This record gives sequence, structure tokens and C-alpha cells, in this order.
Amino acid sequence: MSERVSVLVTGGAGFIGSNFIHYILDRYPQYIIINLDKLTYAGNLNNLKDVSGNSNYYFVKGDISNYELVNYIFEVFQPRYVVNFAAESHVDRSIEDPGIFLRTNILGTQVLLDVAKKHWYRANNWRNGVKFIQISTDEVYGSLGPEGFFTEKTPLDPHSPYSASKASADFIVKSYFDTFKMPINITRCSNNYGPYQFPEKLIPLMINNALNHKELPVYGDGKQVRDWLYVEDHCRAIDLVMQKGKLGEVYNIGGHNEKENIYIVKKIIELLRKMTGDVKINESLIKHVKDRPGHDRRYAIDPSKIEKELHWKPEVNFDRGIVKTVSWYLNNIAWVRNVTNGEYRNYYKRMYEWR
Ligand SMILES: NC(=O)c1ccc[n+]([C@@H]2O[C@H](COP(=O)([O-])OP(=O)(O)OC[C@H]3O[C@@H](n4cnc5c(N)ncnc54)[C@H](O)[C@@H]3O)[C@@H](O)[C@H]2O)c1
Repeated sequence: MSERVSVLVTGGAGFIGSNFIHYILDRYPQYIIINLDKLTYAGNLNNLKDVSGNSNYYFVKGDISNYELVNYIFEVFQPRYVVNFAAESHVDRSIEDPGIFLRTNILGTQVLLDVAKKHWYRANNWRNGVKFIQISTDEVYGSLGPEGFFTEKTPLDPHSPYSASKASADFIVKSYFDTFKMPINITRCSNNYGPYQFPEKLIPLMINNALNHKELPVYGDGKQVRDWLYVEDHCRAIDLVMQKGKLGEVYNIGGHNEKENIYIVKKIIELLRKMTGDVKINESLIKHVKDRPGHDRRYAIDPSKIEKELHWKPEVNFDRGIVKTVSWYLNNIAWVRNVTNGEYRNYYKRMYEWR
């Protein structure tokens, strides 16, 4: 009988993690998934309602910084892979309260590494086939001018407490490879979009506000450029890195989809208007607000290494991906209402006061 493969997914109740769990259970029905999630405001078990009855799926509510808990999970499930999505992920929040970003994103990652090392490293050797995948971000590279792309060799130059915490975690993960030869990969992706994204991030925030005829807050002139990656393409890339990525390597994952924020907002207005016929959804809802401090101007990522080495390519272009995404939110208004209660509203009230 072949060995059962179990995967510890942290932060699996969040946006990308829940998409990844769906993807893996679909593709490898024999895999066992353990989802360790603290269920912060960004974690939502409704994202995983349809897999909650799957006998190969386990949910553990807890913090990645809890050594005893992570150790217990390793004792019971002996995961072959750890895929670390768990993080505080919102830049605006990191400006308000950096402490929790450092605790989860840096110290939490270190706890996962330490426990994995304890269980995977025996008799001077690493257990066969194990791997730790750190899900990082293109934001660790800093900001670009109008030309050029981030490659895996671009020096890290993070500007926000969020990106600084992610860059720190990347260095720690790399240090476990350099020092202990721990089998690791680091992936750095551009902005993801798709189903189950918490409506504080640009695309779902704009969809939700527009549907409620609320103003659409755009930082500064809105000409900041981001590369957009459909979340399912990202999940496929992580799977490839998990199975075939060369040990110790970093892989950039991008969608070849550079767009200005203001373009995205106008596109959402156009699509929602077409799909709902609601004429109150129009560009008069756009409100330019004071720019975010330290706001990076342009991110653009060069994914040619993963394309060449692992034969990955994004399959969902932006025009198709944004239609899929807007349709998903329209069909899942109840999900949006469920996640946008109390805490979120208070947070946004505070953010507007700060601006
Ligand atoms: N969303 C993007 O566009 C994007 C882009 C680049 C990189 N990333 C990275 O991808 C990962 C996932 O991002 P996301 O957008 O899905 O984030 P998210 O905020 O939607 O989800 C994060 C999840 O982590 C959980 N969590 C937070 N702190 C925890 C802790 N201490 N212990 C256990 N669980 C905890 C939350 O409950 C939530 O379910 C993050 O590491 C993020 O830095 C995201």
C-alpha cells in the first residue's frame, strides 16, 4: 500500500488557503489535509462548508505560534508537507498595529519550522519527500519604477510592516535551508483575486461597496500598478512547487496582468452595471482618498523561472478572471454579508478616521 500523504495547510480558512484546500482535495482525493487556522476576522469556515464532511479533511482551530499544538498535530498526522498560508495579510492593518504581524508572520513561521525540523530530521537525515512551503509575496521586493520586473534575484526591500514581516519570515525559512539543509521552497506571488477573498482587499471591497451604492475609496490618483493572478492559477503553481520545486529555491508566481488600480475599479463598475442593470452603480461612486503612507507605486513580477523549470503558466486571463470573480460575489451575497459584520465595519470606521 502506498504511504498516505498528509498536508498541513495553515491559514486554510482564509482566501488563498481555502481555494488551495479545494484544489488539493479535488486533485488528490487520497491526500489528508489538516487545516490549522486561528480563525481571525479573515478566516471563515464557510469557505470550506462543502469539504467539511470529507473524511480526509481535518480542521484544527489554533495558532501557528502555539508550539505544543503544532507539535501535537505533527505527532498525530505526521504531515509530509507544510504549506504556510497563515498570516496577517492586510497592509492597512499592519500600519495600525504592526505587533500582531510580527508575532504571526515571523514568530509563527519559526514555530512551524522548529516543529517540522524536530519531526522530519532524524538520525542525521531528513525524512524522505518532506517539504516546507512558505507562501510569501512580491511585496517583499519593494516598489518598481515604470520599467522592469522583480526576479527571484531582486534584493528584498520591503516598505510596510506587513511586507517587512513577510521578508523576515522568508529570511528565516531560507536560513533553515542554509543551516540545516531543511527541504524548503518559498513562493512569491502577485495580487490574487477570485472567490472567498475578504472584502477589505481592493476587488471584493469595490464589488461590495458598489452593490450597496457606497463610495469606492481609491488611494491617491489610483495609478498604482499591481499584477493580478487568478487564485486557481496560483494554487496550481503551489502544487507544482510542492511536488517538483528544487529544494531551497524561491519561485515567483505572477499573472502577466499588470493593471492600474483605477482601471480595476472602473472595470468592476462596468461589469456590475451590466450584470445587475443597476444604473446607480456608476463612476460617480469613486472617491479619491489620501494615499496610504509608504504606498508602493508599481509591482511587476517575472515568473519565467517557474514557467521554464516547472512548466507552469497562468491559464485564466484577466478579462475572464474578473468576470468569474464578479459573478461569484453576486451569487454569494450571503457569504459577503456573513463575513462583513461587526468587527469589519468598526475597522473601516477607524480607518476613515485615520485618513
Ligand atoms: N491575497 C493576496 O493577494 C496575497 C498576495 C501575496 C501573498 N499572499 C500571502 O498568501 C497567504 C494567504 O493570503 P490570504 O490572502 O489568503 O490571507 P487571508 O488574510 O485571507 O487569510 C489568512 C488566514 O490565516 C489565518 N491566521 C492568521 N493568523 C493566524 C495564526 N496566528 N495562526 C493560524 N492561523 C492564522 C486567518 O484566520 C486566515 O484564515 C499569506 O501568507 C499572504 O501573505 C497573499
